[in-house]
Amino acid sequence: MYLKHLSILNFKNYAEVQLNFSNKINCFLGDNGEGKTNLLDAIYYLSFCKSYFNPLDVQNISHESSFFVLEGHYQNNQQEEVVYCGLKRNQKKQFKRNKKNYDRLADHIGRIPLVIITPLDIMLIIDGSDVRRKFIDGIISQYDNNYLSHLLAYNKALNHRNLLLKSFWLNRTFDEDSLEIWNNQLVQYGDLIYEARKQFIDKFTPIFQKYYTEISKDKEQVELDYRSQLNDGGFNDLLKESLTKDKANHYTNVGIHKDDLTFNLGGLPLKKFGSQGQQKTYLLALKLAQAELIAEISKIKAIVLLDDIYDKLDGKRMAQLLHIVGGGDFGQIFITDTDLERIPNLLNEENLTFKAFQIKDGEAKNG
Ligand SMILES: Nc1ncnc2c1ncn2[C@@H]1O[C@H](COP(=O)(O)OP(=O)(O)OP(=O)(O)O)[C@@H](O)[C@H]1O
Ligand SMILES: [Mg+2]
Repeated sequence: MYLKHLSILNFKNYAEVQLNFSNKINCFLGDNGEGKTNLLDAIYYLSFCKSYFNPLDVQNISHESSFFVLEGHYQNNQQEEVVYCGLKRNQKKQFKRNKKNYDRLADHIGRIPLVIITPLDIMLIIDGSDVRRKFIDGIISQYDNNYLSHLLAYNKALNHRNLLLKSFWLNRTFDEDSLEIWNNQLVQYGDLIYEARKQFIDKFTPIFQKYYTEISKDKEQVELDYRSQLNDGGFNDLLKESLTKDKANHYTNVGIHKDDLTFNLGGLPLKKFGSQGQQKTYLLALKLAQAELIAEISKIKAIVLLDDIYDKLDGKRMAQLLHIVGGGDFGQIFITDTDLERIPNLLNEENLTFKAFQIKDGEAKNG
């Protein structure tokens, strides 16, 4: 699956633009603030029905315009697919595939697999565990249709249990039977989520390590661990053991809502001891592994968006990265850079064909 043609009307700093892409590598080159990332975001929009950068849809309409339109023409084997997204101020977003409206936007997610790699990914390393849980949940829900509904059911039960604990505390009462109802729900859905996450990590880790080794040319060893309280015992027992504490905090202290991933480099925490380039390499390997896993499961090669990739990577790692994504295992790639020469030079050295666009003030020129 690749994006052949993109047309944009009034999206961020683009008034009107029509672009034809290479099915392999495309570069958006230009100075700061000219609109390189905005083009990636338009492509992201057509896969995920929303912006990666600005969660408020309406703020993606060009200032002073009343609507935006994005239309992508994709080639999927012999078939062409047209994805349309239109938004008017104060109206509901329109999202169509081959001229047909979706009943639920969620039905579109996964149809055009896409992975985006941006400087914002650093949040995966420095932020709290919820960001890392979202990362794994986002991948698993792209291939496991039931996962998201299990997660919703779990969160609902968790909410009810916490409210109940709070009401016990406020009213100085306790009723084991009513708590048991929510315990059962937590265990039922929590065990399913735990198993899905464990299986995912088992599959994902070797792919991730392979990419880290390839980009760093085997310079460092990395580890990725799935931390869950459920690793240490049955969920039911954990809930029993935690009851006194739960009553005191009026909060559920154990469960898969506490899961985390630990990122290590040579046995030490990446967050504290990794250099910026090592952290960047780690993030790239995570995202490339994500792309490979999605391709393996959905049988469609993901589109890969690489934003400001030169930031923090040395020339050797950059060349390795382009060598990897330029190879046969990856589909269509979009890369941004502020330098007009260095990525085209590296791609030429690797004998990779590409199309370059010069981006200036919301216009994209071929060449
Ligand atoms: N809704 C909007 N309407 C008009 N312009 C917008 C809108 N949203 C963002 N912009 C403009 O888009 C420009 C930024 O574009 P973008 O982030 O794509 O730049 P870039 O080329 O990636 O720059 P950098 O190299 O700094 O990352 C800014 O000038 C910003 O004001
Ligand atoms: Mg940018």
